[in-house]
Amino acid sequence: MKEETQYRCQSCGYGARKWLGRCPDCGEWGSFVEERQPREKRRSRAVPAGALPVELKAIEGESGERFPTGISELDRVLGGGVVKGSLVLIGGDPGIGKSTLILQASQSLADLAGPVLYVSGEESAAQVKLRADRLGVRAAGLYFLAETSLENIEHQAEHLAPRVLVIDSIQTVYLADLESAPGSVSQVRECGARLMMLAKGKGIATFLVGHVTKEGALAGPRVLEHLVDSVLYFEGESHHAHRILRAVKNRFGSTNEIGIFEMTDRGLLEVKNPSSFFLAERPQGVTGSVIIPGVEGTRPLLLELQALVAPANFGSPRRTVLGADYNRVCLLLAVLEKRAGFPLQTQDVFINVAGGAKITEPAADLGLIIAAASSYTNQPVSPDAVVLGEVGLTGEVRAVSGFEVRLREAAALGFQTAIVPAKNLSDGVAAPLSCHGVATVEEAINLLLG
Ligand code: TYD
Ligand code: MG
Repeated sequence: MKEETQYRCQSCGYGARKWLGRCPDCGEWGSFVEERQPREKRRSRAVPAGALPVELKAIEGESGERFPTGISELDRVLGGGVVKGSLVLIGGDPGIGKSTLILQASQSLADLAGPVLYVSGEESAAQVKLRADRLGVRAAGLYFLAETSLENIEHQAEHLAPRVLVIDSIQTVYLADLESAPGSVSQVRECGARLMMLAKGKGIATFLVGHVTKEGALAGPRVLEHLVDSVLYFEGESHHAHRILRAVKNRFGSTNEIGIFEMTDRGLLEVKNPSSFFLAERPQGVTGSVIIPGVEGTRPLLLELQALVAPANFGSPRRTVLGADYNRVCLLLAVLEKRAGFPLQTQDVFINVAGGAKITEPAADLGLIIAAASSYTNQPVSPDAVVLGEVGLTGEVRAVSGFEVRLREAAALGFQTAIVPAKNLSDGVAAPLSCHGVATVEEAINLLLG
């Protein structure tokens, strides 16, 4: 029974159903206070039926049966394969390659794990077949269903009992009982909840594909984020071949891992060595180009930062940044100006991370500063050096995490020297290449640019 709430005037005791600013009886202002009516009957003392607390160590752990998707970049992001009965949402811009990825994964899942039911509400069987032929997908045990009615999908899934179910996309399926259109919040939420019950109840690993709006939010599927076990975003730029798969939520693994793919005319190829992929077109011995040893998740990733500093023609100078945080770059340019005496207020500065990659970590700070300084002074940085370090406002170079794994990757790709935070060296690590520790931005500039 719903508790009834009443409001009562504290000066005269006048009761009202809603809060009033002034008591109509005694004329007092602000005297109403919420008052809960006691329930008619107090709950009996009997123990209610329901869950009981259990000591955590006494709970039998589910091993979380996992099976590989056969695409190791996808497995890595999932935390080591698909978990039985898990619900995974894959979001991304239209045309980025979600259907391609999931079809390729379906092929190997059908080979490795058992029957896969691929439900498409967007494309006809003939369209999917065309793509499958192009991708060389012809696995036995891969079933296709062109359907948007969730009732029928449930029925077919129960009948076929697949190990893996793919819904491409969640925005196209609907329940006839609900009045709203497919893709609306209530349809998406209700269909998501039904599919979760199916996944958990029958132990079917389920992939939901969802489209993302221009602003980067999962339209509709956003309401699913709390419901599903994992949320993966597939991102990239249409004019670059590489695609990055990122976990933003993962109940079965870390969210730091990324998977890197390359879109080719034969579908998505895994990029096993992303550093050499991103450095493939690196110019050597030019000004304004610096290599930084970054880390994405647990994986090292060498990236090329480029800066172009040129005299500003009129008005306030321009700052254009691609692939890095604009405010961070402005902050670093201010440090370069104030702490190292570079007169950048008369200069336009353009920053670019080559290959369409993105940097998010502060360990790239020193690299950005050196790239700008190199372009300003017209002196190239030695092509076999990498630059690493976070920079603070006083121009100090701060230690970074994952030091060894970064340098190992740089050494593996043939780099010979590294400009690193002095703090990182004081821990006495055995570096695989020759390291120069620096404590300030000025030191780093003197070392690299004379
Ligand atoms: P798709 O998987 O349909 O994207 P989504 O499901 O995310 O909307 O991918 C569509 C794009 O991928 C399309 O622009 C063509 C391109 N593509 C290739 O370049 N090579 C291929 O082998 C395939 C299948 C698609
Ligand atoms: Mg698609």
